[in-house]
Amino acid sequence: MKALILAGGAGTRLRPITHTRAKQLVPVANVPILFYSIQSMVAAGITEIGVIVGDTRDEVMAALGDGSAFGAAITYIPQDEPLGLAHCVLIAREFLGDDDFVMYLGDNLLEQDLASFTAAFAAARASVSPPDAQILLKQVPDPHRFGIAVLDDAGDVVHLVEKPADPPSDLALVGVYLFTATIHEAVAAIEPSPRGELEITDAIQWLVDQGRRVRCELLTGWWIDTGKLTPLLEANRLLLERIETRIDGDVDDTSVIDGRVHVAAGARIVNSTIRGPVSIGADAVIEDSFIGPFSAVGARCRVSHSEIEHSVLMEDAAVIDIPRLEDSLIGSHAEVTRTRRKPRSLRLMIGDHCQVDVE
Ligand code: DAU
Repeated sequence: MKALILAGGAGTRLRPITHTRAKQLVPVANVPILFYSIQSMVAAGITEIGVIVGDTRDEVMAALGDGSAFGAAITYIPQDEPLGLAHCVLIAREFLGDDDFVMYLGDNLLEQDLASFTAAFAAARASVSPPDAQILLKQVPDPHRFGIAVLDDAGDVVHLVEKPADPPSDLALVGVYLFTATIHEAVAAIEPSPRGELEITDAIQWLVDQGRRVRCELLTGWWIDTGKLTPLLEANRLLLERIETRIDGDVDDTSVIDGRVHVAAGARIVNSTIRGPVSIGADAVIEDSFIGPFSAVGARCRVSHSEIEHSVLMEDAAVIDIPRLEDSLIGSHAEVTRTRRKPRSLRLMIGDHCQVDVE
């Protein structure tokens, strides 16, 4: 089995951060989102990975390299314009050949192991009515934001629709799909949707209409489409829940480490309290500050005389003299400082290289 990871697209909902970086490379718990999907592929024994790249291809390629750091072999497939998820399958035809494959949306994060999902597909493929696709569904409160599936009494998929205004069910398509080579016929047969994209939802509907079996599984663990600030902070929270205490950096005698905290090598904690779960990146410096639960402070960040909670600071950011910063995403090399001493709480989404001086 091969894998196709989609890391192109525009990322408009995470602007300004995505003006300057691929949304799939925004860090959660100090690790780029995309790394989690590659790691779960490799853990499931899938090492031949095609990665669709768009405008941010240089950055994605620099981050993933040839895949050997992950134990995988990566083939990059450039997409000139984000013409849809089914378009990604179309342009990956040569890489995929006639193999079965897992398609994974590079901005999705899920708790469940990929291995259990691929094993269920392999078992179903060996049955008397082998499926040509397997989708993963999750009940959601806001189905108009997703692809939606309708099932029959036997639990098979009968109807799929992309981001319906009037959703026929609350079962959303999670961004992990399994296909046989039959999907290539489907993506070649469909037409662009009203929003101008070749929709994978339509390609799967085409399979159903051709009498092909589309199996589905209901996801039990959490799933996050990280494309917006609130889900991104939620993903950061869920992944920080998993970290173990490990202090590789330097913590001075006047500082307190409370709960599960990772302090990476070269980081310095001076006269500060770190209340986990928290991850402090390599060579970061935290002075006279409080870093509260569910915060990820990137490599080489500077935090001084500040309180931070439930926030992501990307690498090289600085937060100086801020009484309280919460639920925030601070871009790489951004600086948040304050000149007047009036206490206040801030909630920010700050792009890379910005400077904010709170008066
Ligand atoms: O997250 C699950 C949802 O993902 C599904 O429920 C929907 O059915 C599915 O269409 C998709 O909807 P989104 O609107 O969230 O897709 P988005 O445009 O964010 O693209 C998903 C990923 O694929 C993202 O990492 C960017 C990448 N992509 C997207 C397009 C349209 C590409 O690489 N090329 C593209 O042409």
